[in-house]
Amino acid sequence: MAFCWWDMQRDDMLPNPLAWPVGRRRLLLAGGAVVAAGLIPSLPRQARATELTHTLTAGPGRVRLVGDEYPETTVWAYDGRVPGPEIRVRQGDRLRVAVTNRLAEETTVHWHGVRLPNAMDGVPHLTQPPIAPGETFVYEFTPPDAGTFWYHPHQNSAEQVGRGLAGPLIVEEREPIQVDRDLTWVLGDWRLTKDAAISDGFGNMMDASHGGRLGNTPTINGQLLEDYPVRAGERVRLRLINAANARIFGLRFQGHRPWIVALDGQPVEPHEPDDGRVVLAPAMRIDLVLDMTGSPGDRATVVDDFYRNLAYRLVDLAYGTEPLRNRPLDTPIDLPSNALPEPELSGAVRHEVTLGGGMMGQMTGAMVDGTMTDIRAMMRRGMAWAINGIASSGPDGHGGGHVMEPIVTLERGRTCVIMMANETAWHHPMHLHGHSFRVLSRNGQPTRFREWQDTVLLAPRERVEIAFVADNPGHWMFHCHILEHQAAGMMSTIRVA
Ligand code: C2O
Ligand code: CU
Repeated sequence: MAFCWWDMQRDDMLPNPLAWPVGRRRLLLAGGAVVAAGLIPSLPRQARATELTHTLTAGPGRVRLVGDEYPETTVWAYDGRVPGPEIRVRQGDRLRVAVTNRLAEETTVHWHGVRLPNAMDGVPHLTQPPIAPGETFVYEFTPPDAGTFWYHPHQNSAEQVGRGLAGPLIVEEREPIQVDRDLTWVLGDWRLTKDAAISDGFGNMMDASHGGRLGNTPTINGQLLEDYPVRAGERVRLRLINAANARIFGLRFQGHRPWIVALDGQPVEPHEPDDGRVVLAPAMRIDLVLDMTGSPGDRATVVDDFYRNLAYRLVDLAYGTEPLRNRPLDTPIDLPSNALPEPELSGAVRHEVTLGGGMMGQMTGAMVDGTMTDIRAMMRRGMAWAINGIASSGPDGHGGGHVMEPIVTLERGRTCVIMMANETAWHHPMHLHGHSFRVLSRNGQPTRFREWQDTVLLAPRERVEIAFVADNPGHWMFHCHILEHQAAGMMSTIRVA
């Protein structure tokens, strides 16, 4: 079947900027469309406080995602903003967030990547009852790790995140590295109609069985940006968060040399990205140190060319006329490491996890609700994927409250090595809740940095080996973060007892 999502672009859709050559996207919103840099307003952080109390309200809102000549877009948002407010704490601070639901349906908040107690993990039916409309739930935890995290619902996730519910959670180091600006870019991807309304059709099988719901409007902090102002000589820490349902970003900062200093919040030996491209699958975070080595008045394009033949210009770094200094800082950029338990490979318990299904795959069927079901019957029920031969949309899917058996139960404190085999023709960013894991190898080749991640991207047919200490008791989700894949069966759980 040769269907591609972009064949589906209809007359009532915004022109797809992704199909346009780099440099032409400006035409999409000619005139009046230049939006000032999208800074996310932060919730105020009290100096020296050790407990920080915030409120967040999930509800409908209206925001301007594209230029002035388009109407506002009706979204679902935290505190009426897209992305939601940036919550900033310092490592060791206790965080308390009272979440009120003003949506017309149940919701929860998951604190993606934070190694917190199971009861605070925000998975409906598994770790808490969903928050009913009109109700409030208080999340309370002390994030153990400094780094870049984010929050989003885990109920009807594909639609709730796809309509705008997502926000950054930044845990600052007690002694941060020296930079001139610490910036967050929440990357979004919207499928908009010509009236800048969010296109319906969440949960359709075309998206679910292919690459997920890819959009036509990539945004930075909730805006389609032309320019991002920078100054010559400044050093920026750029915290990238991919909050898109399905889009994988592959960013090139033309004329610049970004250094990767953290992956999924966890410090990594500073290095330049392979082939100069910063690849960020849904739910992943990458912290960059970016020196503005251009001259006053320069422009430098940030191109996203992850999908072949679909390169487009995401934004231009626009240099102001005044330099900040004549040469960039040359202070160290190594982040202090977090206290993660080191896996002990010799005594490890080993498991295999196989990802199957989707278009152009070999999977002929899978277990659905305890019954072997062939792939056509699965698709009629909205399922297209399986983990170890079991398709489950889990507690947050259309199965509604169906709590599944864990695929693996681990003894607390034990090191676990999981070999994941992607037997599909598609990419899958696999996310484990409650833990960070080391990525040991890809296709049998040891990784260079044995990086810590909580979401690891598997290319089609790739085999990835991860290891972690199962030190956090509870029932944890383990799923693909292409949210349409998750909803269509690529969902499972791991229990630490
Ligand atoms: Cu970002 Cu199961 O979540
Ligand atoms: Cu997937």
